[in-house]
Amino acid sequence: MFVNSLLAAAFFTLAVNAGPALSVEDAQLATQALSFLIQAPGECLFQYTDLPANAPSHNMAALWLRAIFHDSGTFNASDLTGGLDASLVTNPESGTTDNIGIPESAATRFIPSKSPISKADMIALGGIVTVAACGGPQVAFRTGRDDAGVSNNAKLLPSDAFAPVGTIKAGFLRMGLTALDMLVLTTGSHSMGGAHAAISPNVTKEKFEPFDRTPGVFDNDIFKRVLDGKCVVPIDCAFAKDPELLPYIQQYAKDENAFFTQYAISFEKMLNLSPSSLSDPVAIMIKRHSNLVEEGTWPPASAASTTTTVSAVASITTAGSAAKSSSAAADIFLLSSVIYALATTLLLL
Ligand code: HEM
Repeated sequence: MFVNSLLAAAFFTLAVNAGPALSVEDAQLATQALSFLIQAPGECLFQYTDLPANAPSHNMAALWLRAIFHDSGTFNASDLTGGLDASLVTNPESGTTDNIGIPESAATRFIPSKSPISKADMIALGGIVTVAACGGPQVAFRTGRDDAGVSNNAKLLPSDAFAPVGTIKAGFLRMGLTALDMLVLTTGSHSMGGAHAAISPNVTKEKFEPFDRTPGVFDNDIFKRVLDGKCVVPIDCAFAKDPELLPYIQQYAKDENAFFTQYAISFEKMLNLSPSSLSDPVAIMIKRHSNLVEEGTWPPASAASTTTTVSAVASITTAGSAAKSSSAAADIFLLSSVIYALATTLLLL
């Protein structure tokens, strides 16, 4: 079975007015191609049937975010090398165990060989669609990333779950990102998905251990877990011991909007880690998936409370599928997206 239920989430409304141009037609083509990459309903936490049976993670939405970090995290701001250049797809970075699980199962496998924008742009766009469709903020999309001809040095990726905060900070600084970017991008993105024994045996023994209580929803629950000292990835709790970062964790645990505002800024910075010159923002509208909380809460209400297997994910996907309806929240989000797109259009005219 190929992808059979589509998100059809992004609608491009205008072309850019500087940098590499993206026509409305091309943007719509890219949108259609993308709609094959993230499926609905339940796309924010689901078992993706077309993935190889041995794929260690089936959380397509979460994998997309993780892939963005693992692709862009090689960027060196001082000599403009590495960055988000689709090298995970074109030349899987070898010589490291850091990328385990991504080439086998990430959404990046499904990037079409022909698309109106580069593979790196598609990866960026997939992350933007994922965040907004799964409940998070709208993030600006720029095009123009060149795809890499060679692998980057994946050993540059600061992704050691047990490293001291200072080491991880230094890695983000080398990318040109701040300590606050590091916090919202790492802990914030850990709002989605979880750890798998097949990928991170030193982190979990579970087939799937979610990072928070809503692994299928992009929300601020992860910050509440961190404050309670309940972290799957140790670095998330280590951030709370850093006096520079603790006030932000406390703020984001209380105020989801504050988290979303900073995430939109930091995630755009990460997406734009590229030596290429990027376009002005392309206005896009992304429809938020309905039934997010019902489908994305762990453990699923329909499953036995002790069940923490991937088949339980499949069962909530099916349940969500039957119950799918257009919620008022989704409609309001869509309306605000339209307003956003129109406002951006006016600004660019
Ligand atoms: C200090 C930096 C980071 C460390 C040490 C770290 C560590 C980890 C670990 C150990 C996992 C579990 C992988 C698995 O077993 O499936 C994971 C998953 C994940 N990471 Fe991170 N991470 C970091 C930063 C980031 C960043 C910057 C992002 C996104 C921008 C990100 C997004 C994700 C997502 C979405 C998952 C869930 C994947 C799934 O459910 O399949 N991480 N991370």
